[in-house]
Amino acid sequence: MNPFVYLAVFLFILLGCSSSLLKRQVPTKNIQVQGHRGSRGTHPENTLSSFEEAVSAGADWIEFDLVLSKDDVPIVSHDATISVDLCLDARKKPLTRLIPIKTQTVKQLKAFDCGSVPNPVFPEQKTVPGQTFVTLEEVLIWAKRFPDKKVRFNIETKTSAPQKQFEPNPRKFVDSIVRLLRKYHQIENSILQSFDFRTLAEARKMEPSLKLSTLFDKPGPICKATKELGATIASPNLSLLTQDMIKECHSLGIEIHPWTLNQESDWKSAISLGVDGIITDYPRKLTTFLISSTR
Ligand code: G3P
Ligand code: CA
Repeated sequence: MNPFVYLAVFLFILLGCSSSLLKRQVPTKNIQVQGHRGSRGTHPENTLSSFEEAVSAGADWIEFDLVLSKDDVPIVSHDATISVDLCLDARKKPLTRLIPIKTQTVKQLKAFDCGSVPNPVFPEQKTVPGQTFVTLEEVLIWAKRFPDKKVRFNIETKTSAPQKQFEPNPRKFVDSIVRLLRKYHQIENSILQSFDFRTLAEARKMEPSLKLSTLFDKPGPICKATKELGATIASPNLSLLTQDMIKECHSLGIEIHPWTLNQESDWKSAISLGVDGIITDYPRKLTTFLISSTR
């Protein structure tokens, strides 16, 4: 046979083996996908349209943030003030001042449109005009539409506010969340996560079966602090991930779900370090990546 044919056959076999070996190197099967603020990379953050996309993409969890309204209703929002960058007022005009959410009733919040302004940080994000603030209760009611998909919730308590008087009381805040999760039978489908460990401690007392997750944006005794709180998940920022920390947490029965990983290279390195879940703005890209990696 022509030596070039031998060479071609040899290279073909070599490449085939190495690509399947590469695919097998990263065990991606049980990685839990968390859609950050729903699917923030593609839809207006923390809106039902964003949650809908995360669920249809096959995310295991939808991650979202909560603050309290003037009438003490848990509202889905990352910020304590209505975003001047992402929302329009009732006349569809840009906001000219910072409005703390704590000064607005649910009815007032419903007048804002937070789906019409493109988010320059996420060029792939489409606008969905008319998307407005939703309450936690509305999310729980909306989720009933997906009985077969079993939507699960990673709920973050946001407690910092521009002025002290707008900061929620941790116990009351958690109480308003736990009551709703109980009402809609979603305790076992939910995680409560926070940077503010006071809310996690309150939740531990109030509803010991609710899964808790500690958030970290700075180095520290991540596993120890998580264990002490009785939390079973730690969510460090990507920059804090180390194999030693992951091993230590695993030895204490703690899962690791880092945030916010949007690049394939980061997914690969986090998975090879041993994480259990990944919080991403692009749940569809991540689920596609995980499926293709296990083939
Ligand atoms: O899920 C963790 C992550 O959401 C924390 O950061 O600022 O997006 O709420 P942030
Ligand atoms: Ca969050």
